[in-house]
Amino acid sequence: MQLINTKNELKDTLSVILSQSKTLGLVPTMGALHKGHLSLIEKAFNENDSLVVSIFVNPTQFNNKEDLEKYPKTLENDLSLITSVSDEIIVYTPSVEEIYAANVKAEVYNFEGLDRVMEGEFRDNHFNGVGTIVEELLTSIKPTKAYFGEKDFQQLQIIRKLVAIKNIPVEIIGCPIVREANDLAMSSRNERLPKELREKASFIYQTLLEAKNKFGTKSALDVIKWVENEFENNQNFKLEYFQISDSEDLKPVISKIKNKKYRAFIAVFADEIRLIDNIAL
Ligand code: PAF
Repeated sequence: MQLINTKNELKDTLSVILSQSKTLGLVPTMGALHKGHLSLIEKAFNENDSLVVSIFVNPTQFNNKEDLEKYPKTLENDLSLITSVSDEIIVYTPSVEEIYAANVKAEVYNFEGLDRVMEGEFRDNHFNGVGTIVEELLTSIKPTKAYFGEKDFQQLQIIRKLVAIKNIPVEIIGCPIVREANDLAMSSRNERLPKELREKASFIYQTLLEAKNKFGTKSALDVIKWVENEFENNQNFKLEYFQISDSEDLKPVISKIKNKKYRAFIAVFADEIRLIDNIAL
């Protein structure tokens, strides 16, 4: 495994790699790797001649200072997980100064409304921060394909939009959500859940499955009301939002249109830990 910390070192290594490889994969991460990340890394490794995994806790995408401070930093474990896939992977771990110099600020993008719903409503400026770091990584690494998990489905659609508006020549690959044994979507935040609550969090995906089932015969509004009621009757979790949206433009569905693809999105608090999930309907 090759560990790189600076843009210059990255440039030198990539110029050698790109002269030998036809395809280069990129898996951007913020570290605290789990099986969900590993599934992206394995897929990207198998589909490309060379692979870069970046580990960078991006400050401009955190709207909550405490969340940034509490974000787990587990570099040693991350490196050994990456090496368990292959010791040929290049790992890029720049510092905040390396990426932002003295200007730790997000660019402002026009994501054509994709950033104004759901996570965007509750996490001010979050997607401008994501866009800033992803644009920086895509333009400095120039991968053939970049891999992102569908757990952050809104982020995935925003990255597709970023690539289109900035004309970045890369294929964006969305990868299915990986779940724990009880179907809780894998997340670095799960580690912060008390054991009992982590077990009970199967309720989130069970509710999504039942919502999917109901959406076959009921209106979006009826399904939303049903989900809200389920959470009102469950003291363990506080519902922040449940939304049924068009899978492409993420606009909330008003009435179902045949042959359109829809997705349900949820954000929930378990104690002070915020969990998100989604399901194709
Ligand atoms: O999904 C994440 O881990 C982050 O938002 C990303 C894409 C690595 C950008 O910091």
